[in-house]
Amino acid sequence: MTLTAIAHGPISSELIPVKTPAMRHDVPPCLESLPGRVLESTELRDLVDRLAGETARWSEQVAFSDEHRHYVSVYRDAFVDIWLLCWTRASDTGWHDHDVSSGAVAVVQGTLVESNPRFGRRHRSRRVAAGSSFSFGSDHLHRLTGATDDTVSVHAYSPPLWRLGQYTLTPDGVLRRMSVSYADELRPLEAG
Ligand SMILES: [Fe+2]
Repeated sequence: MTLTAIAHGPISSELIPVKTPAMRHDVPPCLESLPGRVLESTELRDLVDRLAGETARWSEQVAFSDEHRHYVSVYRDAFVDIWLLCWTRASDTGWHDHDVSSGAVAVVQGTLVESNPRFGRRHRSRRVAAGSSFSFGSDHLHRLTGATDDTVSVHAYSPPLWRLGQYTLTPDGVLRRMSVSYADELRPLEAG
């Protein structure tokens, strides 16, 4: 079995920015009612769904690059952290887990592809289009890639990300996990 990279389509130079907000808030309204504890995955999904609709906090941060996946910290406290991510079809996280954190993703614009690895079978893969969201527990392992050159997504994790596991296969097929910082850009690792 090989952990096969998801094929990318041709890169388009057409970028479609999200609408500029008419007003800006220091704290998105949906964050004012956080319970002050670690959130369940279903609560995280509800949070990203609501925050996806509250564009004032994050829409000015939207930017796209084929060289680096653009990501911005929207909010972080002791129990939850929230990120804005912008994707092109060159964007690929590689296989990773989220250590002890549960998470949720809401796609605001464009489309993401989420893949889950399977031994001895084709990896599971699904497209997550704008207006859709999903959540997962700390046992989840996946890979996210941009399916369009203008994809924007909001991500929430609880407890806040601190370390993540990034996976690669050695040339003789041994799966390895590398612990990386939440501040590092996830990307496919070269087999070593
Ligand atoms: Fe992830």
